[in-house]
Amino acid sequence: MKINGTSYRTIWPDRDKPGIVNIIDQRLLPFEFIIEKLTDVDQVVTAIKDMHVRGAGLIGATAGFGMHIAAATAPQHRLMDFLEEAGEKLNNSRPTARNLKWAVDRVLLEVQQADTVAERRRIAFETACQIAEEDAEFCRRLGQHGLEIIRDISKKKNGEPVNILTHCNAGWLAFVDYGSATAPIYAARDAGIDVHVWVDETRPWNQGSRLTAWELQQEGIANTLITDNTGGHIMQNGMVDLVLVGTDRTTRTGDVANKIGTYLKALAAFDNNIPFFVALPSSTFDWDLDNGHDIPIEIREGNELTEISGVDVNGKKQTVTLTAPNTRAANFSFDVTPARLVTGLITERGIVAAEEKAIAKMYPEHTGERGQERGQA
Ligand code: MRU
Repeated sequence: MKINGTSYRTIWPDRDKPGIVNIIDQRLLPFEFIIEKLTDVDQVVTAIKDMHVRGAGLIGATAGFGMHIAAATAPQHRLMDFLEEAGEKLNNSRPTARNLKWAVDRVLLEVQQADTVAERRRIAFETACQIAEEDAEFCRRLGQHGLEIIRDISKKKNGEPVNILTHCNAGWLAFVDYGSATAPIYAARDAGIDVHVWVDETRPWNQGSRLTAWELQQEGIANTLITDNTGGHIMQNGMVDLVLVGTDRTTRTGDVANKIGTYLKALAAFDNNIPFFVALPSSTFDWDLDNGHDIPIEIREGNELTEISGVDVNGKKQTVTLTAPNTRAANFSFDVTPARLVTGLITERGIVAAEEKAIAKMYPEHTGERGQERGQA
């Protein structure tokens, strides 16, 4: 997608120098556009943990490239041990996004197929590139499926703008390209449908105000920033046609973990009869989990609530305190929306009910382990 008219992806390997990977440091957006080079595993872990990169798909792609960096920098005589250790560190960097472990496991599995160090290094690189390509392609495809939902609403409204509310940033910055929740919006724009997006601010990290609003602006999509508590009011007043969000982890039964505050949007949408759709590539499904309560919810540092950063009127970066000294803050980063509140899941294979049987039918290759376990019990 575009930044000041130039197309970028959120992560890309240095083609000339193996073991170097480029990312956009998202902590500084939209005020500064800085490309950071990652060259060792600890740097990758920090980039994920401290949110230089963020969003489920991009966390997965970064973990994949982290395994490539590990393979490229590992001592010859202990490549596999080094990769296992790197995988463990990466897995521990952030707990909620499923794509992280999925990517680490995929590289480990592929690498084990080869015998020589050179082969393993090559495979680690190729697998990381495949993960990134697939992430972008799956988002593009789910955008085409989600487009049909927006098209139907547009027809019912005789071409009047379709008002879509989104929470956090499930845009291209949260993936390698296109985004999940934003992919249908970009597809609708390309199909000539009039869309307008209500962007939740998404305190405390402000993914909505700093990233989503900026990203949509760069793509020329009409959008309006709102505080996180505004959704209920505008839904009651007929100003929202569709809620479209992403997810960091979704169970095989359709329970959806997403940025804190999503559950409240789902409740308000349910009460107001507004469709609430969740967009995700299949790498975000947790095929081992039956119940959203079992999804690990990240709790981040309280200073993300008690302080805020931005630029002052002179364009100088500032961080200010918002609270009295020693104010205690609980910073739950995600919540779980139960499947019963989800109208449907938009995936790269199509739109599916947030329901175990329907999901299993769409992804029969994952009906294995857990389903059988339960059947035998
Ligand atoms: O804490 P973050 O920014 O990594 O959280 C991820 C998100 O941006 C959202 O929860 C998003 O809606 C789903 S990730 C595609």
